[in-house]
Amino acid sequence: MTPKLALTDSAPHKLAVDALVIGVVQGESGLELGPGAEDVADAYDGDLLAVLASLGATGKSGEVVKLPGGKLRADLLVAVGLGGRGDSGAVPAEAIRRASGAVARSLAGVGHAATTLSATELSAAVQGTVMGAYKFTGYKSAAGDDPVGKVEFVVADDGADTARQALKGATAIGEAVNTARDLINTPPNDLFPAAFAERATELGRAAGLEVEVLDENALRKQGFGGILGVGSGSSRPPRLVRLRHRGGKSAAKVALVGKGITFDTGGISLKPAAGMDEMTSDMSGAAAVVATMVLATKLNYPLEIIATVPMAENMPSGTSYRPGDVLTMYGGTTVEVLNTDAEGRLILADAMVRACEDGPDYLVETSTLTGAQVVALGKRTPGVMGSEEFRDRVAQTSQAVGEGGWPMPLPEELLGELDSKLADLANVTGQRWGGMLAAGLFLQEFVADEVAWAHIDIAGPAYNSGSPWGYTPKGGTGVPVRTLAAVLADIADRG
Ligand code: BES
Ligand code: MN
Ligand code: ZN
Repeated sequence: MTPKLALTDSAPHKLAVDALVIGVVQGESGLELGPGAEDVADAYDGDLLAVLASLGATGKSGEVVKLPGGKLRADLLVAVGLGGRGDSGAVPAEAIRRASGAVARSLAGVGHAATTLSATELSAAVQGTVMGAYKFTGYKSAAGDDPVGKVEFVVADDGADTARQALKGATAIGEAVNTARDLINTPPNDLFPAAFAERATELGRAAGLEVEVLDENALRKQGFGGILGVGSGSSRPPRLVRLRHRGGKSAAKVALVGKGITFDTGGISLKPAAGMDEMTSDMSGAAAVVATMVLATKLNYPLEIIATVPMAENMPSGTSYRPGDVLTMYGGTTVEVLNTDAEGRLILADAMVRACEDGPDYLVETSTLTGAQVVALGKRTPGVMGSEEFRDRVAQTSQAVGEGGWPMPLPEELLGELDSKLADLANVTGQRWGGMLAAGLFLQEFVADEVAWAHIDIAGPAYNSGSPWGYTPKGGTGVPVRTLAAVLADIADRG
């Protein structure tokens, strides 16, 4: 649950709170105060920076040091590291976002806090707080500490429209990220395709989206051979969910598509046991798209946005699809399945052809598509492919919001590797090289020529199997919700 959030223009050292948060910077000659922290340091009993340094504070990003409030009216003073200053000398927004997240996590159990991290970057401070306070506890018998109860953000003028808009917008974005995380973190026995479709329907209806769900019979009638093929091994049949936002006088039409494999065993091309549990996150793209659609109506983007979200469970069984099968995809393209573990591209191909029938100006698709993405870019950097201009725009936007998407090529020569001996295409190449790019090239075959498109591979970034850091908890991360939201806002702005 989101903490209560409010703005305040009171002097921070006069706030009677359980905890007061300031930032500290790794300066060139040692520890320095972060933006907005001067008044607090002046009001503190003694040389605050010296006290902090003696407690081991270095200003390193994410470091949290707690000390008694001294002469402040706060019981506790919390100093959080912001890392070094950027090239401009200012603390970057992402540093504020991460520090706010780390602090929010460390304030679990605290009732009332105030933060000065909002002095220069209110939106980032709010987003970081909302995302950092997140914890998925739905399956724990014993309740742990509650998230911090209330956070006040210190600003120059708490009545200013810009500040109030920033609080509202940033809270909505943080909550959308948390919605995606909830879906990802729900275990696969409870989030199978029909259950996922139901949750998407509930979320969509509550937000005011138009919702349409195709069940297995509708999918069969309409020829969604990719989704049906992948879903055929599971006792729990596939779904295709469509969500539509009509933003009044809309500047453009945008299609969103997200991979919704509720669990990926690999199918007959079975995955090894080690780490297979993490394939509960193979619907992270779908979760991000559903959460972004809810956000789009909440913030009423002046766009028409249609999400097409395929959901299936990839299981081995007597009814599974096999290596060697040929599937006829929605729209008629035939695909020879050489590896049932390359299932994401099969359900996505169906969904992307359907999405293009709506005649969108832009199509953004996101998926936990390839292990090759993790090999190439690591656990935190999404790979962005697609039409060159739009790909670069999406990658730049992703970097600007702190999700770090990076442009990747679609080298033509790799397409030949997807030739099939009996169908139009094979679902995998014969070798391991460039696996992320080959998957992107496969998807490209299913995008209508006139549509500017982007594919965001989030195989690594969608799920944090390590320790929490910044605003990123263990488990589902909610990447790339903030990229999608910012891309939509940018299209609404500039077309
Ligand atoms: N869901 C996986 C990709 C993945 C791997 C996501 C690791 C998150 C972490 C996808 O369906 C898959 O199995 N891809 C195969 C493709 C291969 C058979 C061409 C892969 O990457 O190994
Ligand atoms: Mn797979
Ligand atoms: Zn998969």
